[in-house]
Amino acid sequence: MEKAAIDALLKDMQAPTRGEPTPRVKAIVDRIVRDLFYVIDEYDVEPSEFWSAVNYLTQAGRNDEYGLIAAGLGFERFLDVRLDAAEEAAGLTGGTPRTIEGPLYVAGAPLCKGEARLDDGSEEGEILIMHGQVRDTDGQPVAGAHVEVWHANTRGNYSFFDKSQSPFNLRRTIETDAEGRYRFRTTMPSGYAVPPEGSTDTLLKQLGRHGHRPAHIHFFVSAPGFRKLTTQINIDGDPYLHDDFAFATRDELIPAVERNQDPEAIAKAGLNAPFARIAFDFELRSEAAALPSAEVQRPRAEAA
Ligand code: BEZ
Ligand code: FE
Repeated sequence: MEKAAIDALLKDMQAPTRGEPTPRVKAIVDRIVRDLFYVIDEYDVEPSEFWSAVNYLTQAGRNDEYGLIAAGLGFERFLDVRLDAAEEAAGLTGGTPRTIEGPLYVAGAPLCKGEARLDDGSEEGEILIMHGQVRDTDGQPVAGAHVEVWHANTRGNYSFFDKSQSPFNLRRTIETDAEGRYRFRTTMPSGYAVPPEGSTDTLLKQLGRHGHRPAHIHFFVSAPGFRKLTTQINIDGDPYLHDDFAFATRDELIPAVERNQDPEAIAKAGLNAPFARIAFDFELRSEAAALPSAEVQRPRAEAA
C-alpha cells in the first residue's frame, strides 16, 4: 500500500471521538500503531500470522515473562543507556556504572548492619566473601548507605520465584558502617537461564539467540543525597561473560575473583574451607536537579 493511504486510514482511526485524550498516551500509542501498520504492510503479514502474534503476547503475559522479554530484546539496557546519557549531559561524571535491575528483585529482605550471611547453608557451593566500601565521587566514605544485594543459587535460581528455597535466601540489605564498609558471606552463584520452552526462549530461538546470563550479583545502593545506583557485578571466567542475553555486562563490573586455599587465609576469614573473595567498592553520584529519577518505579515482587 502507499504510505499516504495508510496515513489516511490512520487519520480517521486516530481522531478522538469522545472526551479529551491524554496527550502523551495518545501521541505514543498513535505512533506505535502507525509503525505496526507499516510493518504489517511492508512484511505482508497475513491475518493468521497477526493472530499468532496476539496469542504469543497473551501467553507471554500469562507466563509472566514480559520482564524477561524486555531484557532480552534490549529495552532494559536501552533505558539504562538513556539514563547514562541524561546524567552525562547534566555533567554528572564518575561513579560506578549502572546496569539493569532485571525482574527478580524482591522487596523487604532482612536489614543487617555492616555485614551479613546471605545463604541459608542448604547448598554445598563455593563460599564467596565479598566486601568493599561505598564512597562518593570525591572518595569520601558514605556511612549508613543501604546495599541491597540479591543473586541466584548454584542452579541459577532465585528465592521467592523458586519456591524450593527458603524466604529471602541470597537476599539482604546491608547498612554500611561508619567507614562506609559492607561485607557479606554467600555461596557463589551460577548464571541464570530463561525457562526452557517458555515464551522468551521460544522468541529468542527464532531470533537465533540464547537466553543465558553470566553468573552475577545484583545491587541497589542508596543513601540520602545520592542517586540510587542499580548495578551488578559479573563473575569473571563465566562462559557467558560477554554473551549476556540481557546485555548487562560492563567492563568496569567484572572484579577479580581471588581463590584462597591457604589454611592461614581460611582461618583468618573465620572459615574452615577454601573460599573465593571479591573486593568491590561502589561510588555513588550526587543527586542533581532536573534529571530523570534514578529511583525507577516498576512492579516488584514483595514477599508476604
Ligand atoms: C537476572 O538478572 O537474573 C535477569 C535479568 C533479566 C532477565 C531475566 C533475568
Ligand atoms: Fe539476576
